[in-house]
Amino acid sequence: MAELDGDVFHPDRSVAATAHVPDADALRAEALADPQGFWADMADELEWFEPWDKVLDDSDAPFYRWFTGARCNIVHNCLDRHLTGPNKNKLALIWQSEDGSEHKTYSYYSLNRQVNMMANIIKAMGITKGDRVTIYLPRIPEVFFAMLACAKIGAVHSVIFAGFSSDALASRIDDSESKLVITADGSFVNGSVFPLKSIVDEAVRYSPTVENVIVVRRAGNEVTMDALRDHWYSDLLALPIAKGTCETVSLDSEDPLYILYTSGSTGKPKAILHTHGGYMVGTYTTLKYTFDMRPEDRWWCTADPGWVTGHSYLVYGPLLTGATVFMFEGGPTYPYPNRWWQLIEYYGITQFYTAPTAIRSLMRFGEAWPNRHDLSSLRLLGSVGEPINPEAWHWFHRVIGKEQCPIMDTWWQTETGMFQITQTPGEPQKPGSAGKPFFGQDVAILDADGNEVPDGEEGFLVLKNPWPAMLRTLYRDDQRYVDTYWSTYPGVYLAGDSARRDADGYLWIIGRTDDVIKVSGHRLGTAEVESALVSHPAVSEAAAIGLPHEVKGNAIHAYVVLRVGEKETPTLAEELRAHVAQHLSPIAKPDAIDVVEKLPKTRSGKIMRRVLKARAQGLDEGDLSTLEE
Ligand code: WTA
Repeated sequence: MAELDGDVFHPDRSVAATAHVPDADALRAEALADPQGFWADMADELEWFEPWDKVLDDSDAPFYRWFTGARCNIVHNCLDRHLTGPNKNKLALIWQSEDGSEHKTYSYYSLNRQVNMMANIIKAMGITKGDRVTIYLPRIPEVFFAMLACAKIGAVHSVIFAGFSSDALASRIDDSESKLVITADGSFVNGSVFPLKSIVDEAVRYSPTVENVIVVRRAGNEVTMDALRDHWYSDLLALPIAKGTCETVSLDSEDPLYILYTSGSTGKPKAILHTHGGYMVGTYTTLKYTFDMRPEDRWWCTADPGWVTGHSYLVYGPLLTGATVFMFEGGPTYPYPNRWWQLIEYYGITQFYTAPTAIRSLMRFGEAWPNRHDLSSLRLLGSVGEPINPEAWHWFHRVIGKEQCPIMDTWWQTETGMFQITQTPGEPQKPGSAGKPFFGQDVAILDADGNEVPDGEEGFLVLKNPWPAMLRTLYRDDQRYVDTYWSTYPGVYLAGDSARRDADGYLWIIGRTDDVIKVSGHRLGTAEVESALVSHPAVSEAAAIGLPHEVKGNAIHAYVVLRVGEKETPTLAEELRAHVAQHLSPIAKPDAIDVVEKLPKTRSGKIMRRVLKARAQGLDEGDLSTLEE
């Protein structure tokens, strides 16, 4: 193996010696030689009602099918199987409220009871296998109950980040044709109340499909309850129908588990579809091996359940591995920037998985905040969502990990469902590199013609092997699935990122190559921001771009053309920012909005965002031959 030098962290030998995977390169070679054998071995560590006929059916690629013929249910592996062994009374979930005044803990046994009650209730409302249920909840234990209850009875959940506005929520509810919405009265955001229920009211007002809305009492804010449609969760729990166990239904391995809306290059979010069998094998394996999950661990993933990281590594993955997972209702800086460090100390967190944007924002408050706390329980750190810059990596490593904790950078996507590029704890780490392909994965970097680029050069990142937790399609849009991911280079999966590989085989992710912007780790589409802007009466056209930002990674800059007769006023930019917050989400608010006479477009009328980006950064505008006069 090549000598690794330069900025490289070599974990202590004892880390690899005691890890689940002591020799990662050896397993990498073995799994790559026989990916199906590797995945079959991992699948054998979980329980199935009926065995599979085939590990992978690629006869209708790119509509791959995993563990075909098998019967299973992810909830059986998240909960039921733990109830007959030593995990029965182990803590599954620890929760703390934003203000710290409430703590709740659930053993596997009691979590199962809660899930049974929620499942009984939604079943009594007529939800059955295949029905879609929209979940719009803050980070409270009920989000676990709701997701698992749906999966238990074979319903398909669609969790919407509880920071999206009513328009965004409505379009996702309508697209999924959900019959039921599970929400709360309100959520706490840095001490104030965000009115979830009234946003749901707006969103479902004209819905032809929503029959019931379950409302969890959380923030105590005043809400309006529709006598027929809306139900307090606490009232439902008191009914006899809620009592008793609810069967975990036996499903086909390929039956849908959830859809999750994510941004793409058009204004219409894509509904990524994941299924039971392959997804449980993929999330279980990646979490176990990358974060070296052990029975005594306390795992904390700071992601919100509204994003894929919350699905795979806050809810499903940890329970599949029988871990104790911690969920915190609040954010990192309220009331003070020591909030997370205080929680790590208090609960004795062993693995802490977060996003670079959070690290960068906490860095700015200085070392004194973390230094007030004993962080010695930590043994591994993790990063996800965007490239971690070396400066943030070193701060995380030195100030939080005390130079003892390897940092697992994990590159993956809503579509991939599980880690694709990462490392194991004992491997040397290069700050800023996402690591190497996960076991069984074959990653390549291609030029525009589909040839592999030489080491060190930038190109388009593709995945050459199918993997069990892969998306199966875009819900009810097979063609868009094929076009988006499998058509640029036939037979390989196009990730939408650019990257390079170095001489040691480490992969360095550079960023998106499409119209997706990662803002503070949140995935947003330029087209969604633009359509929110043009829904304002003063705006006729809009273009949004992402520009580098020190803390957020990228910040949104927007350019608007006003309607004839509209004038730019001193308050217009602020008004438009508020409009985007109101119609899409506060996380999508542009940092800057410029009023322009016209937008650079191709002769066929497509906005050339690349030209706007170059101009904003004072860079060369590149090839302008297609620009209209
Ligand atoms: C980016 C989040 C660099 C990337 C799990 C990808 C990353 C997009 C990393 C998917 C990482 C995610 N290093 N970039 N470790 N992790 N990304 O669907 O651009 O919200 O394509 O999934 O985030 O975002 P998504």
